[in-house]
Amino acid sequence: MTDTMSTAFTRIFGSGTQPEAFFSPGRVNLIGEHTDHEGGYVFPCAIDFGISALAGKNDSGTLRLYSMNFDGEYSSPFETTYSDIHEKLTGQRTWVNYPLGIVSVLKSHGYTFTSGADILYSGNLPDGAGLSSSAALEVLTVRIFSDLLGFGIDGVKAALYSQEAENSFVGMHCGIMDQFAVSMGRKNNAVLLNCSTLEYSYAPLELGTCRLIITNSNVPHSLVGSEYNLRRTQCEAALADIQKVKPIKCLCDLSEHELDEYSYCVKDPVTLRRARHAVSENARALRAAEALKAGDLAGFGRLMNASHVSLRDNYEVTIPELDLLASLAWEFPGVVGSRMTGGGFGGCTVSIVESERAEEFAEVIGREYEARTGRKASFYTTGSADGARRVNSL
Ligand code: GLA
Repeated sequence: MTDTMSTAFTRIFGSGTQPEAFFSPGRVNLIGEHTDHEGGYVFPCAIDFGISALAGKNDSGTLRLYSMNFDGEYSSPFETTYSDIHEKLTGQRTWVNYPLGIVSVLKSHGYTFTSGADILYSGNLPDGAGLSSSAALEVLTVRIFSDLLGFGIDGVKAALYSQEAENSFVGMHCGIMDQFAVSMGRKNNAVLLNCSTLEYSYAPLELGTCRLIITNSNVPHSLVGSEYNLRRTQCEAALADIQKVKPIKCLCDLSEHELDEYSYCVKDPVTLRRARHAVSENARALRAAEALKAGDLAGFGRLMNASHVSLRDNYEVTIPELDLLASLAWEFPGVVGSRMTGGGFGGCTVSIVESERAEEFAEVIGREYEARTGRKASFYTTGSADGARRVNSL
């Protein structure tokens, strides 16, 4: 990859710049799905797959961007000036909206761009698979500017600026989980994050004789923007109903027992189911982190399975392909737990599987999935990784 990327860098930007290397991982959420925007807990880890970048200052004062994943048909980079970045672009090369969003947010926070920059990106995260390629691109871009232009932005701030770019520039009203996980991930650990206070702790991801397997349904999560924003609106409606009688800040301030008690306030049954998911998932995330710390992998796995059921029946963000992958996994001997991961409406499941059954898992489930859906699934084995950083080489 180094040779390919540095050769490409010179071809695209010329030989005037000596670039530095950066990497940002993607993330997989183990449990605590659709709780971040409701002030609850999430339990993700950064993964071995991600996006690499070579970046250096240029003398032209312009920002030049090129993606080896998306720009194959172009011989020259996307080019703009910092002062021309105001709103998101439509049409071609829309991937640049993520780095442009970062520049826009950093400018709004008073950072001054004193030099032009050339950035080449290349990633191995499947696009649209719910493994946070967008968050990886955003946080990576913050890291690059922080380093090149001496902004000194720490990991938590990098996550917050990235979320802001996604919310206000790209227009996806995501929570903080993805950006936090890719920015603050730690090798061999999962991060337990309270999305209301941003307090976090690391839990060693000790899987014993098991490993993490991500299964990509290869159904891209294209509806995620509109449906995601709709789920958030429904949760807000449930919160507003309950707030009429109980002063809470967010849905996840409620225990499951309390939600039962106040369920009479929520008139619309669909809205109530959305709230039930958020509140029960928050409790599961906390219990799962405890189970992992106590070495109770089987208990952890059961909570993952229960999380999928709630996302399927209460939150309704699974699709038949994800339900099929999860139920095939539940039936497979050697699977400790399995659930959809990420926003839903396509994307991936995450499973904890006995290492010695991992190959068979991919074979058997891959075959059955293809027979029933006509689609091929992809399987990735991953460890948990460090967050976005400058690296010595790629
Ligand atoms: C997407 C969002 C996150 C989070 C998850 C669901 O990945 O970007 O903020 O809400 O969905 O848990």
